[in-house]
Amino acid sequence: MTENDFIPGHHNQTFQDGSVTWESPSNIALVKYWGKLDHQIPQNASISFTLNQCKTITTLKYLKKESRRDFSFEVFLDGEKKTGFEPKVKTFFERVEVYLPFLKDYHFRIETINTFPHSSGIASSASGMSALSLCLMDLEKRLLGKMSKDYFINKASFLARLGSGSASRSLEGELVVWGEHTDIENSSNLFGIKFDYPVHKNFKNYQDTILLVDKGEKQVSSTVGHNLMHNHPFAEKRFEQASNNLSLLKEALKTGNLDDFIEIVESEALTLHAMMLTSLPYFILMKPNTLNIINKIWEYRKQTGSKVCFTLDAGANVHVLFPEKEKLKVGKFIDQTLSPYCQNGQFIEDFTGTGARRVEHLT
Ligand code: PMV
Repeated sequence: MTENDFIPGHHNQTFQDGSVTWESPSNIALVKYWGKLDHQIPQNASISFTLNQCKTITTLKYLKKESRRDFSFEVFLDGEKKTGFEPKVKTFFERVEVYLPFLKDYHFRIETINTFPHSSGIASSASGMSALSLCLMDLEKRLLGKMSKDYFINKASFLARLGSGSASRSLEGELVVWGEHTDIENSSNLFGIKFDYPVHKNFKNYQDTILLVDKGEKQVSSTVGHNLMHNHPFAEKRFEQASNNLSLLKEALKTGNLDDFIEIVESEALTLHAMMLTSLPYFILMKPNTLNIINKIWEYRKQTGSKVCFTLDAGANVHVLFPEKEKLKVGKFIDQTLSPYCQNGQFIEDFTGTGARRVEHLT
């Protein structure tokens, strides 16, 4: 498929007004995406677990307007108007207008709620951009009259990617691959696809407890971060390594080998941060408590034989990953040993989920 396949034909319908709601989860990458070309084309393929509890619920209300001169929209978060979000949405609309030619026909009221606390350091861009893209696709489907399921989901992921790369992995579950990879059939740089290969029962309802180490604003925006991979001395080797890790992970997911899974996932997390440590300018996004937590996890694993491990995003928070059958024991360990390293002792318990869904309106 190419970008042109997402430019729609003539719309058969028009609507005066209407409203649609979608909820979409966050995701956590196991093999990381870090480094991109223009238009959010990733430098390597990535794979993530879709989460279940951390999600964005977005209602898109649309009202036909007279003039097609400009975009017209308002953004609300938890019922409060947020003008601060408008530039991001405007940039997004400009990027996707060619694929959604109706954008200037309507005034949009975008109402958004996140189930996770704002300023928790958890990025809402993945869940937020995918929820908004799904709402827009829902409207396009109505305008066109019909649309295949595959086209709907692929294009929604394609649009979400143009908002925020990792958002392309937030629509389906429980594992999603984004980026071309020789071992993953039908994989694409344009949108995420469901990982359609055998997954061992060890990974069923895999747990992800997110430890909130630092709830502050991100020190480095992802755009700046990705750009640091241009002319990075280790870039080419890193992209190769990520690709190799995806092949290895595919095998570990099949066999259920948790030791291999741990090694790949932790190495990916540390490599992501190593890329930031070795770029120019350089950044340290981990905090002392990020390292304290990692060391405690390693100690616990050594002492108990547990299969708990960690991964990191581009920030200080730690995602603690473990099999469902260890829920009680690891839960206790987190409560007693790890939570003292979190800001105000806070963490969020999540697990793998099946992806986004349309929310029917109660009328
Ligand atoms: O989607 P972006 O542009 O915010 O990039 C996010 C990249 C990481 O979260 C650090 C890794 C990933 O693959 O999700």
